[in-house]
Amino acid sequence: MFGVEISGLGIYIPQKRLTNFDLEKIMDTSDEWIYQRTGIKYRYVVEDGLSTSDLALFAAKEALNEAEKHGIKDIDYIILATNSPDYIIPATSSVLQGKLGISAGSMDVFSGCAAFVYALIVASSLIKSGLSKNVLLVGAEAISKYLDWSDRSVSILLGDGAGAFVLSRINDKDRGIIDCNVGTDGSKAELIYIPAGGTKEPFSEKSIEDKKIYLRMQGRDVFKSVVSILPSEIKKLLDKNNLKPNDIDLYIFHQANIRIINAVMENLGIDEKKVYNNIEKYANTSAASVPIAFYEAYRKNMIGPNSLVLFSAFGAGFTWANVLWKL
Ligand code: ACO
Repeated sequence: MFGVEISGLGIYIPQKRLTNFDLEKIMDTSDEWIYQRTGIKYRYVVEDGLSTSDLALFAAKEALNEAEKHGIKDIDYIILATNSPDYIIPATSSVLQGKLGISAGSMDVFSGCAAFVYALIVASSLIKSGLSKNVLLVGAEAISKYLDWSDRSVSILLGDGAGAFVLSRINDKDRGIIDCNVGTDGSKAELIYIPAGGTKEPFSEKSIEDKKIYLRMQGRDVFKSVVSILPSEIKKLLDKNNLKPNDIDLYIFHQANIRIINAVMENLGIDEKKVYNNIEKYANTSAASVPIAFYEAYRKNMIGPNSLVLFSAFGAGFTWANVLWKL
């Protein structure tokens, strides 16, 4: 068994920023409603002509450059977590490989906003087991392309962006992933979904007319499901590892709604200094939110060698995943 080190980090945020006040001009909403209900003030939206693989490429390049300074040259796998792929076929990680021009296997992980945390588990397992030395792991979303801007209940919540980790094998087996827990409740698959475009309801003129090509969500039910599941799942993971909530140095939660994060913190008695949030600036960037938040916290020196980090995410599926990590 080996350990896992984060040898490179990168992010990419698109240029175009939309404030809540910008949204007030195109739909019946208000800055006050959005900020109070979600904690969001701004979101970034990808420019026309760019797609998820482009955002992934920019974040990946920064992470690969940093890893190269640590002597990392060869990448065995590219794992891309996304819910807004360039195409239905092929996987966006293949497109990213082509753009990077590096020799590596590739796969996508498609498990809702929890996809990056799931992909972190897969990548770490490949490295820990000795099957791989270096993995490029990217969470990237151009999810704004799936939004119906006349649907104020969903479109105000999301934004685009990308974050990347290069994960590398080290001999100290106590570093990297320590433990994880995951779960799915597929009976709630239609809480967050795009009805048309898959094999169940292929694209048609009717699906476009009925706006079934856009993301739909039952926000209130999502909210209730998350706050009833996540605290007990995190507690189970901490108990299993003989840890108390405030033994963790930093929590990186999926940035979906500040009220959800606050409810989880309150339930577990987590000190607010141990949580890094940036939902105000970026909104919910789906599978990109965890790596973007981690990148910012790391660059602000909120954590360092040997820090204990807990990554926690939930999303469409309905899926959730928690990872305990030692830097
Ligand atoms: N602006 C103004 N009013 C609005 C807006 C808006 N943007 N959206 C809805 N409203 C109205 C509704 O029409 C409703 O009006 P009514 O009372 O006259 O019927 C009222 O505000 C309350 O609506 P609710 O949907 O009940 O509001 P709620 O307090 O539940 O907040 C929200 C909605 C913010 C979506 C919340 O439920 C939430 O954050 N849920 C979780 C979302 C989430 O985490 N999704 C996960 C991931 S997304 C993904 O995986 C891709």
